[in-house]
Amino acid sequence: MNKEFNHIKLNEKKWDKWSESLDGKGWRNEFLRKAQEGVVSLLEIKNDIHFLDVGCGTGWAIGKAAERFNFSGKFFGVDLSTKMIERAKENFQSMENFYFIKANAESIPLEDGFFDVIISTNSFHHYLNPGKALNEFYRLLKAGGKIYILDPTADSWLIKFLDKIIKMFEPEHVKMYSSKEFKDMFINAGFKYLKSVEVQTRQKIHIAGK
Ligand SMILES: C[S@@+](CC[C@H](N)C(=O)[O-])C[C@H]1O[C@@H](n2cnc3c(N)ncnc32)[C@H](O)[C@@H]1O
Repeated sequence: MNKEFNHIKLNEKKWDKWSESLDGKGWRNEFLRKAQEGVVSLLEIKNDIHFLDVGCGTGWAIGKAAERFNFSGKFFGVDLSTKMIERAKENFQSMENFYFIKANAESIPLEDGFFDVIISTNSFHHYLNPGKALNEFYRLLKAGGKIYILDPTADSWLIKFLDKIIKMFEPEHVKMYSSKEFKDMFINAGFKYLKSVEVQTRQKIHIAGK
């Protein structure tokens, strides 16, 4: 089994299982929701938005973003886990302008230059080839579009330590990056790095434009 295939299978297995509890209560889900709210609150209001959430889970942030944009536009979610996508479709089955697709962030079967905004929350550190994912986000974004990636950011000893520990126990975990690494990766993919905004316990939203 090659490394890439193995990595995808491990992730699918883990997140398929998580899909059973991601819509439930508890501190973990509250933590994730607060982080997603932080991202959604920064989005600039616009009519007829083309919005994409990569690693969308069961679609919670997509519902919140759609509320912020008054449901005007097209709202897409992509996730590697079949079960996350099934649940997201169930959660939003009445919404005609919501679309959920099972795909790897590194290869998303959608049109070039279609999206005004791409977000990704607590998902990026699971991508085996982060540069490939960023190239894909760049391809999908319109000129003038913005990307918001929220992830635990390894600027402090705590997150660096956590990153090492998690890697020992979770083989599908790849890496938590520092702000400098995010900035370099964004620039390599062609983005203009705009800024980072800290939300709860050393998670940062890294914002870049095309
Ligand atoms: C911790 S959950 C976060 C879900 C949601 N974004 C949130 O903030 O609650 C990580 C999500 O990333 C997805 N994921 C992991 N690797 C991925 C990849 N390579 N491509 C797309 N989605 C991926 C998982 O399936 C899972 O739904």
